[in-house]
Amino acid sequence: MIIKPKVRGFVCVTAHPAGCAAHIQQQIDYVKAKGPIKDGPRKVLVIGASTGFGLSSRITAAFGSGAATLGIFYERPSEEGRPATPGWYNSIAFTQAARAAGLYAQNINGDAFSDDIKKQALAIIARDLGQVDLVVYSLASPRRQHPRTGAVHKSTLQPIGTAYTNKTVDTDKGIVSEVTIQPADEAGIADTLAVMGGEDWEMWMDALSEAKLLAPGATAISYSYIGPIHTWPIYKDGTIGRAKIDLERAAKAIHAKLQATVGGRAFISVNKALVTQASSAIPVVPLYISILYKVMKAAGTHEGCIEQIQRLFATQLFNGQQPTFDSEGRVRVDDWEMRPAIQDAISAIWPHVTTENLVELTDITGYRTEFLKMFGFGLPGIDYDADIEPHLPMI
Ligand code: NAI
Ligand code: NA
Repeated sequence: MIIKPKVRGFVCVTAHPAGCAAHIQQQIDYVKAKGPIKDGPRKVLVIGASTGFGLSSRITAAFGSGAATLGIFYERPSEEGRPATPGWYNSIAFTQAARAAGLYAQNINGDAFSDDIKKQALAIIARDLGQVDLVVYSLASPRRQHPRTGAVHKSTLQPIGTAYTNKTVDTDKGIVSEVTIQPADEAGIADTLAVMGGEDWEMWMDALSEAKLLAPGATAISYSYIGPIHTWPIYKDGTIGRAKIDLERAAKAIHAKLQATVGGRAFISVNKALVTQASSAIPVVPLYISILYKVMKAAGTHEGCIEQIQRLFATQLFNGQQPTFDSEGRVRVDDWEMRPAIQDAISAIWPHVTTENLVELTDITGYRTEFLKMFGFGLPGIDYDADIEPHLPMI
């Protein structure tokens, strides 16, 4: 099969297996070039391990600290005439590279919100690893079936209280327009919290704890976002922001339990806004990211997922370092994004962006390159005109 990108709105419905593997290799090379992360994790569970920040966490743990990793994700295999999702190919490529380097790597593809997948994970940890010393919780999902009630909750990306109007960009067509998003009702707020809040993370940690699968001093971490005033109504102060407040509540509850049981720790890292499958679906945010990339590249402080997580592990979590907490007890690797000089430059550009000057005033070009890269397109050394086998079994 010859596989080309097929972009439909904010998704690409194709993915290139060799390109995804090359993307994984780039991230591995980056982590190796930064050198070993001392006193790093040895046995790691990553929930949401196949793309974005979770994938970068897995790569950093494995190739920065030589960790054994169990990755949980929910990806679609190839079907007749249709390639698999990028996370499917990413996970295969990661696992091959890890095993070739002599590292343990195992995968579970299925719904992390379910009791069944948790049970499978506990069994694999007990059998192969004994215990885990790091749990990374990095799910981004549009829905969750609650394991107790059976109810299906759907998350929304909506403001709370009043409608919100701002500029947005159709990243595929390059059209800048105004969008108005209606506020969520109470049910929408509660549903988003049920999907993206902290309850499932707590369920994972309780299950691991009850099965005595957490090593002494174990660390648990999950990721959040705050961002600037331009996106507050749709992010920090919107439905997703409410869910993140609940995730922070869960971090404190998990921290207290870990302290009491294994002398461990749990916290939230607030990360930078980056092109991922999750962020590309949020209105307004892709325009913000396009301007952010422009400004941070000019300042020489731009990072992608792998740079963010490598810095988090090497300067905050391990390597003889102690985390620096903000007033709310969170680690901030969005620090470079939030620098006043960066945010002032973005605010100066924001009101002037139009369809006509989009390429000039923003890094929409870089956004699109990053977006396609997530699906394995545009990687150097890949022959995209070559026939390639899309059917790869999970390993
Ligand atoms: P992503 O879409 O790249 O990754 C989501 C992961 O969750 C994938 O591995 C996917 O397979 C997995 N997943 C989704 N539903 C699942 C299910 N039911 N069962 C098992 N696995 C499932 O997302 P991204 O952006 O890496 O997000 C991860 C976390 O980072 C989220 O909490 C997000 O809010 C946070 N974050 C994202 C930022 C961004 O700009 N992208 C910025 C700061 C934080
Ligand atoms: Na992730």
